[in-house]
Amino acid sequence: MAGSPSLAGQPKVFLENNLIMIREGMRNIPVMRGQLDGLSDPQIIALAKFYSAQVLKPVPGQRDEALYERGQLLSKQALCGTCHLPDYVGREQMPRLAGQREDYLLHTMRQFRNNQATGRDTIMAASLYGMNDADLQAIAQYLSQLK
Ligand code: HEC
Repeated sequence: MAGSPSLAGQPKVFLENNLIMIREGMRNIPVMRGQLDGLSDPQIIALAKFYSAQVLKPVPGQRDEALYERGQLLSKQALCGTCHLPDYVGREQMPRLAGQREDYLLHTMRQFRNNQATGRDTIMAASLYGMNDADLQAIAQYLSQLK
């Protein structure tokens, strides 16, 4: 769905952390507010296990070669792959970025860069520091096209 992240194939630890943060009201995601109320820790762990075992079937939009190449270069220069892994499949608390929805990637990177990512790891604001919207658009295009 537009604006919503794919959960399939995300690392289990990342999902557990974020589901718990959402349940506790520590992340500011209006559409998710209250959705996880009453779920127990074991239920959250089971949900995380379920989604992490799903295989992501990316639905990339039209590829823009110039934007894609710029995004690839920027991601390389900013060493995004040191944490998210060189193929951007994520691990532990680092989310999968490969094949994620482009609109969601752009939205979430803007939040990090603008220091509006309530309840999220501050490490990402540092990684995106100094990037403008065009940079973020290029990175979102690149990552969304990866399998
Ligand atoms: C030092 C490790 C590190 C580096 C380097 C790093 N990230 Fe991250 N990134 C993280 C962690 C940890 C999270 C999870 C934050 C959270 O859940 O609060 C994250 C989250 C994200 C998210 C949110 C995804 C989602 O599903 O919500 C995006 C998008 C992202 N990173 C993109 C990037 C890009 C692009 C770069 C390079 C410019 C980058 N990251 C560099 C550690 C890193």
